[in-house]
Amino acid sequence: MKLLKKKIMTDGKVVNDALLKVDSFLNHQIEPELMKEIGREFAERFKDAKVTKVLTIEASGIAAALMTALYLDVPLVFARKKKSAVTEENLYAAEVYSFTKKETNRVTVASEFLADGDQILIIDDFLANGEAVLGLCNIVEQAKANVVGVGIVIEKSFQPGCEKIRKAGYRLESLARIHSFSDGRVNFMQDDTK
Ligand code: G4P
Repeated sequence: MKLLKKKIMTDGKVVNDALLKVDSFLNHQIEPELMKEIGREFAERFKDAKVTKVLTIEASGIAAALMTALYLDVPLVFARKKKSAVTEENLYAAEVYSFTKKETNRVTVASEFLADGDQILIIDDFLANGEAVLGLCNIVEQAKANVVGVGIVIEKSFQPGCEKIRKAGYRLESLARIHSFSDGRVNFMQDDTK
């Protein structure tokens, strides 16, 4: 997605050879117009997938997922990383290890928000090791719903997540695919021309 890649080039900050900081438009401050275009693009790519719900994980996935849900005209559910103060009953749960943060989160979704037969589109902001997405896929399976695809805003193609997700048989659509970081610059995959 050209607009997103332009934004990454102008406003993204390469922290080291594995990490990109995008706090000015995606992970801290959020740019609504860009999120709108991201939502429109995901909705276009998955328009024939008969999506009934969008699923993401708090916190940074929510903005892009909400815009996608708006364009697809379906509800958005976000998985929680923190315990709800209200209820801990009837949950689907998965353990998600973060290689980046070196911590494990128990990720949960209330069973009432995922139904048998739901057609789920998973959206997230970053794809690195794929643990978060695979945890969400696990939760969808527990609900006997179906993952119709995975939409990622920024894929770090040099990390194992994209391969793991494709190998598991899921359709993966990433709006910006990063080949590498070098000398403080972002190098996109050569076949990332959309
Ligand atoms: P995974 O999400 O693919 O399993 O990879 P990993 O466990 O390594 O990622 C853990 C967290 O780090 C995720 O955020 C992910 O979005 C974020 N992350 C991974 N690589 C980068 C990067 O290059 N830049 C930035 N800015 N973030 C990255 P999270 O813990 O879910 O945070 P949040 O959604 O609560 O903000």
